Amino acid sequence: MMDNVFVGQVIGASLVLCSLLWLVLAHPRIPKGAPPGTFGWPVLGETLDYLNLRYKSGAATFFNERRKKYGVDVFRTHVFFSPTVVIAGADAHKLLQNDGYRSLTFGHFSTMKDLFGEKSLILTEADQHKRMRKAVMGSMNWKVLKSHIPTLEELSIETLRSWEGKEVSASEEFAKFTFYSILGLLLSLKPSPHTEILRRDFLVLAKYGVSLPLKISGTNYSRALQARRRLLDGLKKVLDDRRKNGNPSEDVLDHLMQPREITGSDSHLSDEEIVDNIIFFIFAGYETTSTALARIMQLLADHPHELNLVKAEQKRILQELGKENFLTWEKVKSMHYTSMVINEALRLSNLGTEVILRTAKHDIAFHGYTIPRGWNIMIDKTATDNNPEIFKEPLKFKPARFEENLPPYVFTPFGGGVRICAGMDFANLEMLVFIHTLVNNYSWRLTQKNNDELEFTGVVQKPKNGIPIIVQRLSE
Ligand code: HEM
Repeated sequence: MMDNVFVGQVIGASLVLCSLLWLVLAHPRIPKGAPPGTFGWPVLGETLDYLNLRYKSGAATFFNERRKKYGVDVFRTHVFFSPTVVIAGADAHKLLQNDGYRSLTFGHFSTMKDLFGEKSLILTEADQHKRMRKAVMGSMNWKVLKSHIPTLEELSIETLRSWEGKEVSASEEFAKFTFYSILGLLLSLKPSPHTEILRRDFLVLAKYGVSLPLKISGTNYSRALQARRRLLDGLKKVLDDRRKNGNPSEDVLDHLMQPREITGSDSHLSDEEIVDNIIFFIFAGYETTSTALARIMQLLADHPHELNLVKAEQKRILQELGKENFLTWEKVKSMHYTSMVINEALRLSNLGTEVILRTAKHDIAFHGYTIPRGWNIMIDKTATDNNPEIFKEPLKFKPARFEENLPPYVFTPFGGGVRICAGMDFANLEMLVFIHTLVNNYSWRLTQKNNDELEFTGVVQKPKNGIPIIVQRLSE
């Protein structure tokens, strides 16, 4: 009996000791000067709370609650197994924009390597990133973008024609549109049974890539990895074909595949680097731009005055184009009001990445606190986008607000600094060309009243109802 009691006491004491040790070890040390906040539960920190709020109403809710509690725009938390500091406001964007590669490295999750490949731009750092960025940006120069306008116009016309007179989900349809517009720019490929196979694999990769990373046969994650392998094979065939047969028109792949003697070794990419980047480009560009376009149609349908201003601008441009009617680069550049509509939709939709993730390479001073070396940093874009001191009545759709000069570092829908969105000019071009074709030829209405329910896809937050619409061709 005594023995049993003794054994019980030893086990009990060991459990308490282990729990205490676990508590101490599981929480990282909080250095002096670190921002206020809490690390939440051992190991998990505040991850569950963060995910719960993010999927329900957006990461902004999680951030706003804490900012209110601590009364400052910088606080610490613990998410995804890492001590993290959340910062916001113009100074946060200024840090991102001016840092170069000095204090910040790109904070990424281990699964990104599986999904995008370790040679993709997003996963490279410092000199390697600089080299690849030079090659990639050189391949998406204004000449290539300009030569892509007719393809974009043609795709917009075909897309709208396929919607005529029936109810469609704007979110789903734009996902197809943006997939094919990027495929056209990168590889000169048009919709076909072959590219539909690529699209299906791509959708599997995008959908299941953000699931629990279990590399066991039958899991969603392994389906994503298999889809990636098929995509790699498909893209390698495109490269082989290009080497054998060349390409009649200029595209991004043409530039990326130029021999070292022409590109110089600085900008030369291997085949592996090229295919990894193509997959990442499609990923980075399709859901962001498609959600923006769907939101633009929704917002304009709800704001007839602003829609009339867009129509007036686009009609004027059409008249100036004269008989030929084909859009030109110069005319796209003159779409001032439509560009403000796009900016306002981007501001309101918290698109792209609602947070920008980095890791501190060394201690960083921010607003009187120290962000310790090795901690993650989340830059909360939504706090600036919704700040009433910068954007009066921030929840209202008011494109004309962009007529006034904004203070620096407050509007950054495409991020900033060395990692500013590589597809920014293309995304804007794509949206402007589509809107031009849309308002000059069609009217549309929403078939469901807007509701605020959102879904988070891993990349963007978008209206859960998919924004159902009906478009009608305007009579001549
Ligand atoms: C409305 C549409 C888009 C939005 C709002 C958007 C937003 C962003 C943001 C905020 C970043 C910076 C992420 C960071 O700093 O961690 C980024 C990076 C990037 N975006 Fe976009 N993007 C859009 C469209 C596109 C398109 C169409 C493409 C490609 C054709 C693209 C390609 C990229 C790439 C390659 C990067 C990584 C750049 C690097 O690490 O150097 N994006 N984007």
